[in-house]
Amino acid sequence: MKYLSGNEIRNLWLEFFKGKGHLVEPGASLIPNDDPTLLWMNAGVAALKKYFDGSVIPKNPRIVNVQKCIRTNDIEHVGKTARHHTFFEMLGNFSIGDYFRDQALEWAYEWLTSEKWLGLPKEKLYITVYSADRETAEKWVALGIDPSHIVATVDQNFWEIGEGPSGPCTEVFFDRGEKYGDFSIEAIRDDIENDRFVEIWNIVLSQFNAKAGMKREEYPELPSKNIDTGSGLERVAMVVQEVETNYETDLFYPIIKKIEAISGIDYHGQMAFKVIADHIRTVSFAISDGAILSNEGRGYVLRRLLRRAVRYGRKLGIEKPFMAKLVDIVEKIMVDFYPNIRTQKDLIKRIVSREATKFLET
Ligand code: GLY
Repeated sequence: MKYLSGNEIRNLWLEFFKGKGHLVEPGASLIPNDDPTLLWMNAGVAALKKYFDGSVIPKNPRIVNVQKCIRTNDIEHVGKTARHHTFFEMLGNFSIGDYFRDQALEWAYEWLTSEKWLGLPKEKLYITVYSADRETAEKWVALGIDPSHIVATVDQNFWEIGEGPSGPCTEVFFDRGEKYGDFSIEAIRDDIENDRFVEIWNIVLSQFNAKAGMKREEYPELPSKNIDTGSGLERVAMVVQEVETNYETDLFYPIIKKIEAISGIDYHGQMAFKVIADHIRTVSFAISDGAILSNEGRGYVLRRLLRRAVRYGRKLGIEKPFMAKLVDIVEKIMVDFYPNIRTQKDLIKRIVSREATKFLET
């Protein structure tokens, strides 16, 4: 496998899908503009709902994006597993009533396995499919996936997250080998927490409009059959950089090193380092997109994250405000793709310092 930096993966992703006739949709703000059902942008498709439900016609029915996302429902996993975050970037390609299953899977296979792109060995790929969806299973096999690597599930393979586009999906897992645990198809099929098989891509055959309070069978159909995919950049980076967890990728490791320098303690995979590194990215990007700290809603989520990070800092013996120093590192890692993080840096540092000082005083 060839090493690719986080930056390279993003750029290659956009280049690959531009080459397949997709228009780049710039990533949206983490703060949803006109979607009262959402606290934060939480998936690549969240910013594109207007195209899926037909209320806006896109300039091009093929779209590619890199979307900043915040999800705090997994917060207890952050730092414990190799791959959970409160802030992450989702690589996505989308078809609004244009291509569907066959074309989406052909391009997926090419992106994953071609030496020109990720160049992952196909023997290491495992694929889940919705049990009733034989066509998807057959297509993966026709492309070159061994039938024993296809896992049919009933419950895992329907994608929805709140209101909006949803549908049956097919997920790509990468097998990181024995070093990360015993082989277990059940781990994939039954979604059992493990470090060996990492889900790196979810391809949704997006056909329904999920509505709060409705049963799945009752969701209205979207105006067309669509494709919506999400591939977590940090996970892809972990796989191609062949590191133990997302935190040792180039997207995080410089932050970890800085925490080592501030605390005088060696990392050795400790959870506190990971929690702090995760939370400072979330807080930095949320503030750079205009969020402020407060005692309710979004601002409260941020305040809790910031305080949580300070508490984990204390576990490492750090008694002085230190989070603002990490903002410089977040900027260095991310500025090429997100120049806004540089323009907003001073504001982020001011807000972070003030809150940490106040919290430590109490
Ligand atoms: N919308 C597909 C995903 O985020 O996994």
